[in-house]
Amino acid sequence: MAARKRVFDLLRTIDVASCRCPAHSHRGHFQVSDVTPTKDYAFEIKCSTVRYGLGVTREVGMDLVNLGAKNVCVMTDSNLVHLSPVKAVLNSLTKNGVNYQVYDKVRVEPTDSSFKEAIKFAKAGSFDSFLAVGGGSVMDTCKAANLYYCDPAAEFLDYVNAPVGKGKPVEVQLKPMIAIPTTSGTGSETTGVSIFDYEAIHAKTGISHAALRPILALIDPLHTLSLPEKVANFAGFDIFCHALESFTAIPYNERGPAPANPALRPSYQGSNPISDVWARFCLQTLRQYFARSVYNADDIDARSGMHLAATMAGVGIGNAGVHLCHGLAYPIAGLVKDYTPGDYGESPIIPHGLSVVLTAPGVFRYTGASDPDKHLEAAAILGADVSNKKQADAGAVLADTIIKYMDKMQIADGLAGVGYERGDIPALVRGALPQGRLLALSPLPQSEEDLSRILEDSMTVY
Ligand SMILES: NC(=O)c1ccc[n+]([C@@H]2O[C@H](COP(=O)([O-])OP(=O)(O)OC[C@H]3O[C@@H](n4cnc5c(N)ncnc54)[C@H](O)[C@@H]3O)[C@@H](O)[C@H]2O)c1
Ligand SMILES: [Fe+2]
Repeated sequence: MAARKRVFDLLRTIDVASCRCPAHSHRGHFQVSDVTPTKDYAFEIKCSTVRYGLGVTREVGMDLVNLGAKNVCVMTDSNLVHLSPVKAVLNSLTKNGVNYQVYDKVRVEPTDSSFKEAIKFAKAGSFDSFLAVGGGSVMDTCKAANLYYCDPAAEFLDYVNAPVGKGKPVEVQLKPMIAIPTTSGTGSETTGVSIFDYEAIHAKTGISHAALRPILALIDPLHTLSLPEKVANFAGFDIFCHALESFTAIPYNERGPAPANPALRPSYQGSNPISDVWARFCLQTLRQYFARSVYNADDIDARSGMHLAATMAGVGIGNAGVHLCHGLAYPIAGLVKDYTPGDYGESPIIPHGLSVVLTAPGVFRYTGASDPDKHLEAAAILGADVSNKKQADAGAVLADTIIKYMDKMQIADGLAGVGYERGDIPALVRGALPQGRLLALSPLPQSEEDLSRILEDSMTVY
């Protein structure tokens, strides 16, 4: 039945999208319909320019000179400002005679208040460029600071994703932003996405527009040598879920409607053959290097491999998107009770990578039926023997494979392991509902009852 539907969809797609040129159109005189198709028929891949290499940070001062930068807003956090990544950056700026001011008060897992503090700092200066040195928290904060610096009259919620905010498209010209990631996880250096915890609803949301994307990402694995074990571990599971979710997201040509204008095509477009290449690469890298990189801080090959994989997965999610693990993770992180994992300070926190992987087994058990071949392929790349596995078991096979990784990396035993009880499930479901943009990318539609069942299934994992 599904195959038959795919054939009809394909024929419809060919009808609306075929080349009009007689040399390539095989039915003679195809016309491109003027009617906007109900399903999309195209996808596009956008990405920051990426430069990868050990020690490549030394070039950032020259990049800023090449841009004609006269005063750079450098953003980082209060921990990194004392560590070698920031020192390497500031050395390069000084050596190349670039003026800068440092903002080092980025909050780990930022909130709307911490974004507003950073925006205030930017507005008080006179900057012609932005430079983020840090993990996702720093890069996301820097994107927001650049946006509101360039549109000083905007209200904060104007650009925040609907339904929390107004989801206004970015039409002002932003200043050039360079990103230097120091964790191996978010891929934020390649995406037009900026995530924060909206305190009023205790759930994460964000700002999403291609204009936020850094113009250049310097991927320097040297920075990852100082990553604490837990940060390497949780950020690694962020890559893990980015790869699995973008690989299994609803296919781009089953998501709809097609936009009336290509400029309106969303950043998150569903799985597609190009994002799939990045996802497969990441899954292979995770199999090879994930555990090594977490448990051996000086294993430069493993840490470099993970650093590259994070960027690769960023290209994948930046265009394909993520779905249920991330949609559910936002309230899981936002409603944290008193869990403190270590390596993230004293305040309660469920770091992003941990919040996404806790439901991963339950999510992929649920989505397995949407495309058993892809779920089995992902499990096989991650090391499972799928030779005698039935299609009907694809979701369970991938879930078991994920659990093996979680066990090896000593991840808490599901939602109960980070302090949640069954009675918290309705609040977690309510917190996930505003993530409609992500939930819509799930390969299977889901009701509130389905989300509850996935959360129930995630209370314990082992
Ligand atoms: N924009 C996107 O596309 C995107 C995607 C996924 C996640 N995110 C967001 O990113 C945030 C998480 O970012 P993250 O996982 O990169 O971690 P992070 O930026 O929150 O940093 C975590 C901790 O690690 C420390 N740290 C970072 N690099 C270090 C280094 N090289 N050496 C020593 N310590 C270091 C930081 O100081 C901090 O204490 C979350 O808010 C999440 O929602 C954004
Ligand atoms: Fe993520």
